[in-house]
Amino acid sequence: MKPNRLLDGSRFIVSCFFFIIFLCVLASINEIRFDSLMKFGQCAFSQAPQNSSAERLSQTNTIASSSPSELRILIGILTLPDHYHKRHFLRMIYGTQSLVGARVDVKFVFCNLTKEDQKVLVALEIMRYDDIIIMNCKENMNKGKTYTYFSSLPEMLLNDTNVPYPPYHYVMKGDDDAYFRLQSLADSLRPLPRQDLYYGYVIPCPSMDPFVHYMSGMGYLVSWDILEWLKDSDIPKKHLEGPEDRVFGDWLRDGHRGRNRYNAKWSMYNFPEPPTRCTHELWPDTIAVHLLKTQEKWIQTLNYFNVTKSLKPSKLYHIP
Ligand SMILES: *[C@@H]1O[C@H](CO)[C@@H](O)[C@H](O)[C@H]1NC(C)=O
Ligand SMILES: *[C@@H]1O[C@H](CO)[C@@H](O)[C@H](O)[C@H]1NC(C)=O
Ligand SMILES: *[C@@H]1O[C@H](CO)[C@@H](O)[C@H](O)[C@H]1NC(C)=O
Ligand SMILES: *[C@@H]1O[C@H](CO)[C@@H](O)[C@H](O)[C@H]1NC(C)=O
Repeated sequence: MKPNRLLDGSRFIVSCFFFIIFLCVLASINEIRFDSLMKFGQCAFSQAPQNSSAERLSQTNTIASSSPSELRILIGILTLPDHYHKRHFLRMIYGTQSLVGARVDVKFVFCNLTKEDQKVLVALEIMRYDDIIIMNCKENMNKGKTYTYFSSLPEMLLNDTNVPYPPYHYVMKGDDDAYFRLQSLADSLRPLPRQDLYYGYVIPCPSMDPFVHYMSGMGYLVSWDILEWLKDSDIPKKHLEGPEDRVFGDWLRDGHRGRNRYNAKWSMYNFPEPPTRCTHELWPDTIAVHLLKTQEKWIQTLNYFNVTKSLKPSKLYHIP
């Protein structure tokens, strides 16, 4: 090696060394400013209206911060880890609804992750939204996912000392193709018993008797005491397989549970098209619309309920 090359080399190393020191000094000076920049970034992300569930969803330890007199409802939407777009869509739908006198937590529920990319993507979602419940199970249809959902919650929620009792007065299982109007749901629940309640859209469709036979999978709800019963009882354990929502009705019948029942028909119904005995026209007195299988049906429903009417005017956008 030629001597001047060697000289150049050591000069280069020395200047690198000083440059790194310079960077360290700069970084420590700017640390405080950078922190505040991060905070600003967070603020910029939580622009949802103050009382919206979006903001609540993004806070950790959410139930602990609710006031003790508030009605607390959990809606678990059973879905699959890979359904990222669906979750994103539903977060918009529920994150833009604001509520008075109740807190409704909408969470996405699935079984163990199975792919490497899920471990990153789902973890990021949880860091950002904290609205995912991963149960100890393998994804399945009609093999007890519903049972796992309801019966796992007591263990998952009760050992946290900050959480009030019951953590939720009511727990719902909801479908990802149903649109729930959270304020209407909460208002319909407020006068009802908080013990031994089974609530939903009774099947068969023309029936109005909530004791015959069971509540439709579009979305049904039970009081917290029924979860604790399900967790301990042998009745569901002996009869786990089968169409989940019908089997759920059988457990309650066999266990003499759900003595308080509420049929929310026709505030809950299937989307009017195509008409069947389970459908109803969109109307103001709505808690849930089910079978929103296409974007078109979602849009028609969201338009009917004027969900974008409260969009703030701004110079930054124009939506005719
Ligand atoms: C949020 O809720 C509180 C208490 O329920 C109420 O006083 C306040 O006006 C609400 N804020 C908005 C922006 O709706
Ligand atoms: C789910 O994952 C947990 C933790 O990784 C593991 O202990 C458990 O056995 C898994 N359960 C099933 C049913 O695969
Ligand atoms: C709380 O945790 C302990 C130990 O992990 C467990 O034995 C107990 O059953 C849990 N209690 C509830 C109510 O989940
Ligand atoms: C939506 O807005 C229109 C026009 O303001 C109104 O007539 C209609 O009743 C609203 N629909 C609902 C479901 O509130």
